[in-house]
Amino acid sequence: MANPQPAILTNLTKYQWYTHLSRVEGADLGVIKKALNDVRAAGTDVGVTVPVNVCLLFGPTLLADLTNDIPEDFQPYPGYESPDGKVAKGTQEELLLWVHSDDKDLCWETQFNFRNAVAGHMNVARETPTFIYRNSLDLTGFIDGTGNPEPHEQHDRAIIDEGQPGAGGSFCIAQRWVHDLKYFNGLSLEEQQNVFGRTKDDSTRLDVQVPTSHLAHVELREGDTADASKPKRGEMVRRSTPYAFHDGTVGLYFMGFSKTQAVLRERMEAMYGQNGQPRDAITDYSTPASGSYYFAPSVETLDAALA
Ligand code: HEM
Repeated sequence: MANPQPAILTNLTKYQWYTHLSRVEGADLGVIKKALNDVRAAGTDVGVTVPVNVCLLFGPTLLADLTNDIPEDFQPYPGYESPDGKVAKGTQEELLLWVHSDDKDLCWETQFNFRNAVAGHMNVARETPTFIYRNSLDLTGFIDGTGNPEPHEQHDRAIIDEGQPGAGGSFCIAQRWVHDLKYFNGLSLEEQQNVFGRTKDDSTRLDVQVPTSHLAHVELREGDTADASKPKRGEMVRRSTPYAFHDGTVGLYFMGFSKTQAVLRERMEAMYGQNGQPRDAITDYSTPASGSYYFAPSVETLDAALA
């Protein structure tokens, strides 16, 4: 039985730290493997009082150099553009180190030790510290996570089944969305609610979904998207959290997991109106500054790959 990396499905803790890296020319895979092993053990050090959850996620190139246990249909992130020119640019890297903990200092320390250990072999392309905001709010004030599968269903929805290539692993989409809150806060309450297709105070699903609503793009159903009379299909588990930089840039760090990558691509294509439907209203006020697809191998595949 192959088990998912525990950081994915465990309760999300208060602080997260995302560090994306790629190899430099002449990188020594042995050095990188040792650093990956060490970072997996973060949290066992003396003096660490709360859990440090570490997840290792690989882009297609590094995964192929570490293991033969490659999931089906794992593609790099292509970037997306709507017919009217809205762009979600692609910034695929080889490794995403995702750390979350109730102690922000431990998140910082864990990624800092790792990046020092691979210095000269991997470059940090970008990093983002994030946090849970109030009762899991996006910075727009809307609750984020309501439509997630129930906790007991999440393993089935996000983790590849036994017997399949990549069993126990999970596909991931990671994006840093930049919000224009001035624009969003200038909308009426009705307009804001129609952006997502849920109410602002308690996340109740609106009976009527306008064609531009977020749910009209991402709530996949047998038959038409967001047709609540039909069963859901292709579900995903989201672990997104807000961030705020000192220069005033704010937004959502979107982090989602699924057992096939196709359902992530389908949602992105829908949000960017690539299949003939109108763009998702989210893209009127928010733009991804980065975007990549990764794969989080099972614990057992990691054990073998890093041995
Ligand atoms: C700025 C970016 C985004 C924001 C602020 C955002 C926000 C939200 C909000 C407020 C909801 C309704 C409450 C909930 O169920 O969580 C929601 C639902 C959802 N979002 Fe997003 N979202 C963003 C991007 C994305 C992307 C890129 C995807 C997929 C690739 C996605 C997939 C989903 C899914 C699957 C649901 C639940 C649908 C269902 O109920 O079946 N979201 N999102």
